[in-house]
Amino acid sequence: MPWQQIKARITDTEAEHMEQLFQSLGAVSVSFLDAEDEAVFQLEPGATPLWQQTLLSALFEEDTPIDEILLTLKSASRLSDEDLVVETIEDQDWERAWMDEFKPMKFGERLWICPSWTSPPDESAVNVRLDPGLAFGSGTHPTTALCLEWLDGEPVSGKTVIDYGCGSGILAIAAALLGAKRIIGVDNDPQAVTATESNRQENGIDAAVLTAHLPGEAHEPADIVIANILSGPLVELEPILSSLTKPNGKLVLSGLLDEQSQALINAYADDFDMEPPVVRDGWARIVGTRRA
Ligand SMILES: C[S@@+](CC[C@H](N)C(=O)[O-])C[C@H]1O[C@@H](n2cnc3c(N)ncnc32)[C@H](O)[C@@H]1O
Repeated sequence: MPWQQIKARITDTEAEHMEQLFQSLGAVSVSFLDAEDEAVFQLEPGATPLWQQTLLSALFEEDTPIDEILLTLKSASRLSDEDLVVETIEDQDWERAWMDEFKPMKFGERLWICPSWTSPPDESAVNVRLDPGLAFGSGTHPTTALCLEWLDGEPVSGKTVIDYGCGSGILAIAAALLGAKRIIGVDNDPQAVTATESNRQENGIDAAVLTAHLPGEAHEPADIVIANILSGPLVELEPILSSLTKPNGKLVLSGLLDEQSQALINAYADDFDMEPPVVRDGWARIVGTRRA
């Protein structure tokens, strides 16, 4: 069955009100897309950030009187003809359409991130099977990629690892499949803890090897602590991340912009020997070694 779609150019502050308006007019689904290819990075647990210029896309059933809907929309909001586009689209499998965008990706020499619904291109590689669900971390963001490449190039076999801000569990699972002996994922978003647990099972990793939980549990310091979180929280987390890293252990920080690197190096300089940042698309990764 074909659908009628109305696309409306709105701002992020209008999103909630517009979603309700379209739903009250009979839209069977309302979704939001980036109108200007503007990057968004999740800031708060559970938050669903939107782009400043947002494209609202609303689907209506084939027989909906779309001209009447347009007239109501224009009288009930500031939207005018220039903000609105109507299209007829053929039916498709919506879930699959999104999934088709997420393809297997290689990081470093031996590590692949493969959507859980595809076959790995190289069965002999280290293949992380992943369904990000609602949590952050599919490998497509440069900060995740920088962390995966670091893990791939590091002898993690037999080491203990803490993935602070584990999201989908992508880094924790990569560490486990690269041979780390014990990995703990921590995240203050319960959805991330659930996603990590489900991806652990998907990858056949024993719960004794990888566990994920909310912050607050005490842990022995680890050989490797990896935290891909924004710069502000990383500065605040210094006492915690520092106490979680063994003497001579490695700390990997990402999620910060290159221009924030120096402030972060300064924040960790008392406890760590910090290396220069590695930068990709404006995002940075900084590695430090905990002083003995
Ligand atoms: C950018 S995502 C990283 C996900 C994954 N580790 C990756 O590299 O793709 C950051 C994660 O950190 C979590 N987070 C943010 N602030 C945190 C905090 N103070 N304590 C624990 N987790 C936090 C968020 O919920 C989110 O899942």
